[in-house]
Amino acid sequence: MFQSDLLQNKIILVTGGGSGLGLSMSKRFAELGATLVICGRNPDRLANGAAEIKQAGAGREVFTFPCDVRDYQAVEKMMTDVIAQVGLPHILVNNAAGNFLAATEDLSPGGFDAVVRIVLYGTFNCTQILAKHWIAQKVPGTVLNIVTTYASNGSAFVVPSACAKAGVLAMTRSLAVEWGAYGIRLNAIAPGPFPTEGAWKRLFPDKAFDEQVKKRIPLGRFGEHRELTNLAVFLLSDEVGFINGECVTIDGGETLAGSGQFSLFTQLDREALKKMMRQMRGS
Ligand code: HXC
Ligand code: NAP
Repeated sequence: MFQSDLLQNKIILVTGGGSGLGLSMSKRFAELGATLVICGRNPDRLANGAAEIKQAGAGREVFTFPCDVRDYQAVEKMMTDVIAQVGLPHILVNNAAGNFLAATEDLSPGGFDAVVRIVLYGTFNCTQILAKHWIAQKVPGTVLNIVTTYASNGSAFVVPSACAKAGVLAMTRSLAVEWGAYGIRLNAIAPGPFPTEGAWKRLFPDKAFDEQVKKRIPLGRFGEHRELTNLAVFLLSDEVGFINGECVTIDGGETLAGSGQFSLFTQLDREALKKMMRQMRGS
């Protein structure tokens, strides 16, 4: 789908790059020639992720920086260290997130704070601190924010995440305009369900729930990591450098199906449905 050197000479910083979708994106970027910098809180997760990325990238360089993105000063230090040891990243992927299921009336202030600080503040911290370097050095930059489909519409039982992702989407669109003059562009991806250990152990209680969710998705399945990673490559590539402030949904049609008045009919046997329609037409 892409030239094998599409991301040659690019330094890409992926937050939460040691697991799940962040790791899959990092592996794909390395396959296409990028140098990867991954950060996260758990050094073992980062080390294991780096080994996988190196393998995918046929030995491309991978650097790990343990860092909690909630902490502004820690992110400032990480960015200074990355620039000194690796070079100034060309691309930032804000992928780190926290989430869990909770009835909102039972949420503690600390629970709300934990998720919003990782998702919204973490994204702000990394974006603003790196962009200050880009602006000072007069170089362009690209940011890709991973949100969710419910960033636009909200969702029950994940209110801290919904609030924070909505904020990230607003940040994406706001800064796309504010920083366009510096040659900095920002886009977002809104994924539907893509199985990862981190999301599934916190949000998807059992196989029966998985099957129910799949039924809501017109394509009848979850997303495959490769599909999302290819979209990420596309959006951050210079080849589409005029895309700015966009959020691309990749959810098999789930969000649209949820809002269509007659989408429920897709759950019926198609022949029985057509028979009913013929009868209604004839009556
Ligand atoms: C209610 C909870 C809770 C839970 C933690 N808390 N888990 N409240 N239900 N299940 C509360 C605690 O009581 C505490 O509040 C506060 O949250 C912080 O808890 P800690 O355990 O100290 O948090 P911390 O170690 O900082 O971890 C943050 C975390 C954790 C968000 C709670 O889940 C995490 O590390 N997540 C990272 C990975 C992740 O979430 N991946 C999934 C992303 S999937 P008090 O008030 O008691 O101090 C995604 C989109 C999916 O985002 C969309 C699918 C389609
Ligand atoms: P995941 O594997 O749990 O990834 C989350 C990553 O964020 C972990 O590597 C974690 O590493 C890191 N992280 C969490 N808190 C951090 C902090 N304070 N500082 C630095 N790093 C931190 O989950 P995932 O499913 O791959 O999710 C990746 C992204 O996709 C998230 O933005 C999520 O909201 C989004 N998304 C996922 C789905 C899905 O179906 N999987 C759907 C929609 C959106 P440490 O714990 O080591 O810090």
